[in-house]
Amino acid sequence: MSDTQKSATLAIDGQSFELPIYSPTAGPDVLDIRKLYAQAGVFTYDPGFTSTASCDSTITFIDGDKGVLLHRGYPIDQLAGKSHYLEVCFLLLYGYLPTAAELEDFENTITRHTMVHEQMNNFFRGFRRDAHPMAIIVGVVGAMSAFYHDSTDINDPLQREIASHRLIAKMPTIAAMAYKYTVGQPFVYPRNDLDYASNFLRMCFAVPCEEYEVNPILSRAMDRIFTLHADHEQNASTSTVRLASSSGANPFACIAAGIACLWGPAHGGANQACLEMLKEIGSVDRIPEYIARAKDKNDPFRLMGFGHRVYKNTDPRATVLKQSADEVLELLGVENNPLLAVAKELEQVALNDPYFVEKKLFPNVDFYSGIILEAMGFPTSMFTPIFALSRTVGWISQWKEQFSDPAHKIGRPRQLYLGETLRNYADIEDR
Ligand code: SDX
Repeated sequence: MSDTQKSATLAIDGQSFELPIYSPTAGPDVLDIRKLYAQAGVFTYDPGFTSTASCDSTITFIDGDKGVLLHRGYPIDQLAGKSHYLEVCFLLLYGYLPTAAELEDFENTITRHTMVHEQMNNFFRGFRRDAHPMAIIVGVVGAMSAFYHDSTDINDPLQREIASHRLIAKMPTIAAMAYKYTVGQPFVYPRNDLDYASNFLRMCFAVPCEEYEVNPILSRAMDRIFTLHADHEQNASTSTVRLASSSGANPFACIAAGIACLWGPAHGGANQACLEMLKEIGSVDRIPEYIARAKDKNDPFRLMGFGHRVYKNTDPRATVLKQSADEVLELLGVENNPLLAVAKELEQVALNDPYFVEKKLFPNVDFYSGIILEAMGFPTSMFTPIFALSRTVGWISQWKEQFSDPAHKIGRPRQLYLGETLRNYADIEDR
């Protein structure tokens, strides 16, 4: 953390309190309020944390107004265009781009951790076949602490490293198993001769009755989706992982908590909700009806896949994914799919409607990822599991970073209490 350069003065009831100000390498200054309650006897109030920095970090930086996303300083469009997911994983985990030898060693390590404990197959069989894959994945990832005892001690750096590699390596296998289980097909084992994205596509779509050939354009698009969802500062699910980790919970439990939070339709569940919204709209001529509903303050309906808490002009990930969407749709010859016709028309209407322009509601990453995954043949129920698979490295990197701060402590927010003050119990005959 940079030295204290400046301070702010807070005056309360005639008393003044100096609050140190820290300047970042990028982004807004921060006010250090850690001693505020002890000195002034007041809390700050920020539900939703719109103005609160929960930690310092060197992993990812977002400039919401300029539509900038940097991973360890590298712009997301360069990484999506020139790098690939496992190299981005190395960058997020270790803070620099690997040499060829380091990358080969890392990819070999991840590749050789992709199998899951064979006993886990039985664990899957306890679920109903119609379970949502996210419900299965939350359970299976949390249960990993029951299968990998030798990498749950968070105080042992080597165990933290092994748990990190196991989670990144096994998430595609677990997500593919969840999908196969829900469609009643046999699990497909990972192959060490395939790259990360190709392995995942094969584990999802191969069947024992015939060879499965991975289409390089689809595996490239899959890898790009993984890369674009890898990390995103202190979003809701990452903050959940950090808070769970602050109690000393094991890494598998912390990542399971992040997966549970990501599931919500306002967060990682938006890509599934977006496709379901497009299916509900059904045809281009019904778009005006839904645009009116999105503007109606009395209607809870929102355009899923639009808007963002931080980005207020454009989501740079969406810009990159839009290119991939066009490639995949053309390759699969589905550019005439009625659902995708609704998506493209809705995008144009929202981008030109004064209401959405004024409120900065533009297509976000989930709008385009949903379109690509639908075109690839994934059911909408697999969209968020793919987001969770991609974000695991971000959660793990932020989890690791938290340990690098020797002063880190259990997270324990306070509150503005508006409930009843002290009153005595009344016996039932006196009520
Ligand atoms: C992700 O944080 C991250 O980094 C998340 C993420 C990541 O990588 O981790 O980027 C992934 O979660 C992307 C966002 C996916 N969610 C959706 O697509 C769901 C639809 N979007 C909305 O729920 C909403 O835009 C949020 C939750 C994304 C952002 O909400 P904000 O910034 O808190 O905005 P808000 O709810 O305060 O809304 C501001 C105004 C409101 O109107 P007013 O009260 O000011 O009149 O905009 C309106 C809202 O009604 N609004 C929308 C809208 N989103 C906001 N109106 C219609 N449709 C929408 N989608």
